[in-house]
Amino acid sequence: MTKDYRNYVNGEWVASENTITISAPASGEVLGTVPAMSQKEVDEAMAAGRRALKAWRALSYVERAAYLHKAADILVRDKEKIGAVLSKEIAKGYKSAVAEVVRTAEIIHYAAEEGVRISGEVLEGGSFEAASKKKIAVVRREPVGVVLAISPFNYPVNLAGSKIAPALIAGNVVMFKPPTQGSISGLLLAEAFVEAGLPAGVLNTITGRGSEIGDYIVEHEEVNFINFTGSTQIGERIGRLAGMRPIMLELGGKDSAIVLEDADLELTAKNIVAGAFGYSGQRCTAVKRVLVMDSVADELVEILRGKIEKLIVGNPEDDADITPLIDTAAADFVEGLVEDAKEKGAEAKTEIKREDNLICPILFDRVTTDMRLAWEEPFGPVLPIIRVHSVEEAIEISNKSEYGLQASVFTKNYPLAFSIAEQLEVGTVHINNKTQRGTDNFPFLGAKKSGAGVQGVKYSIEAMTTLKSVVFDIQ
Ligand code: NAP
Ligand code: G3H
Repeated sequence: MTKDYRNYVNGEWVASENTITISAPASGEVLGTVPAMSQKEVDEAMAAGRRALKAWRALSYVERAAYLHKAADILVRDKEKIGAVLSKEIAKGYKSAVAEVVRTAEIIHYAAEEGVRISGEVLEGGSFEAASKKKIAVVRREPVGVVLAISPFNYPVNLAGSKIAPALIAGNVVMFKPPTQGSISGLLLAEAFVEAGLPAGVLNTITGRGSEIGDYIVEHEEVNFINFTGSTQIGERIGRLAGMRPIMLELGGKDSAIVLEDADLELTAKNIVAGAFGYSGQRCTAVKRVLVMDSVADELVEILRGKIEKLIVGNPEDDADITPLIDTAAADFVEGLVEDAKEKGAEAKTEIKREDNLICPILFDRVTTDMRLAWEEPFGPVLPIIRVHSVEEAIEISNKSEYGLQASVFTKNYPLAFSIAEQLEVGTVHINNKTQRGTDNFPFLGAKKSGAGVQGVKYSIEAMTTLKSVVFDIQ
């Protein structure tokens, strides 16, 4: 029997008149229904958040941290239960789904610990005019207020927890909108906070299709900060609607792996395959193109092909590496990129095969810059190889992307790797490893159309707080 899930609003689980049926992308099994909230219900949830803010921000850090530690412990206790639902709901391999829940718990614990160390500063006057010598400023951090947290389908739990925990520890209240495909898992995350005893109104959930209620919640006058992870298209829209309110946007990417002549090709290929095909390429940080020196390209392509052919293609519950994509539109989009590359002369090194939304991993050699695959984010299991003849050419192609999330450089020449890293227009460069978020205390950010603002526990807390100065004169 399937379950009719409810939203958590003002300390109660509430239903809506309209619902959305959630099915498993891989099997079609109906997993349950979630409410499609009306605007009036959104208003009630927002008002509940606003009412709860005063008492929540008045608590000490250590009191708020206690709730977070408890919620994190509950997540670890329930990791298999939540992981099983998550695995089905977004067709993610079971072990990766459980790992997502555990990683979320770790972030929540870390946020609680980081929060108890938040400190302000005292500034001395006297630097600008002699008379100001008597002035003192006491500068403290304050919560921004009501935070709207919106997570994407590929990490509906983790990219929710990484917003909710830093927001809460800083004294904010949260309105959490999970992705529709992923909303059951999002509601299970909320359940952990509920069981931890969070006061009513401090965390409220909002389910419903982004296309129907997205603009309404983003423009809502109660929202003080929007923390969004998802596509560049929706992120840009949110940026326009946000007006003067602060935002954090973590968006799409087209991460390059730059492979130089002296690279350890075995290590390089291992990392590129893991980076490109983890969760079937549905990661913002996936390696989405390889820029390799022509002199080592043949050898690298052969090693990559061997490793890609060993990937397990199948279902999430079997822990396959490659599972069906999230929906038919996603699979059709990937097929469009593949057809374009084929027509323009790219050489497929693996069999091109699609069954419904399951696309077998594809390696394309000799991709050129007139092909869509050189620039667009497939969010699927397709890896283009672009052959280059100099470091300068690799940097130029990498930087021509409208995105600027991350890049990797594979070489034994560390001074050169640092010099390349300096020239790449991205948030993070990995040396001799795959592109990846984390570890989760590191700053995570995108340049250009990959985002605005900086995630990472400490940085997220900083982003979702504001400074207040109290200035006075001493005698
Ligand atoms: P998406 O379609 O942009 O959706 C993301 C979230 O936004 C979902 O919760 C969605 O709800 C909601 N949404 C949709 N329309 C909205 C609107 N008008 N206003 C407010 N919210 C709205 O992205 P996705 O398909 O879930 O995720 C894939 C994309 O996210 C890829 O481009 C990927 O690169 C990017 N991503 C980036 C990062 C990063 O950290 N840089 C991490 C993960 C993913 P519904 O599900 O109800 O539509
Ligand atoms: O999809 C975007 C995520 O932020 C990527 O996280 O690199 O840990 O898979 P990850």
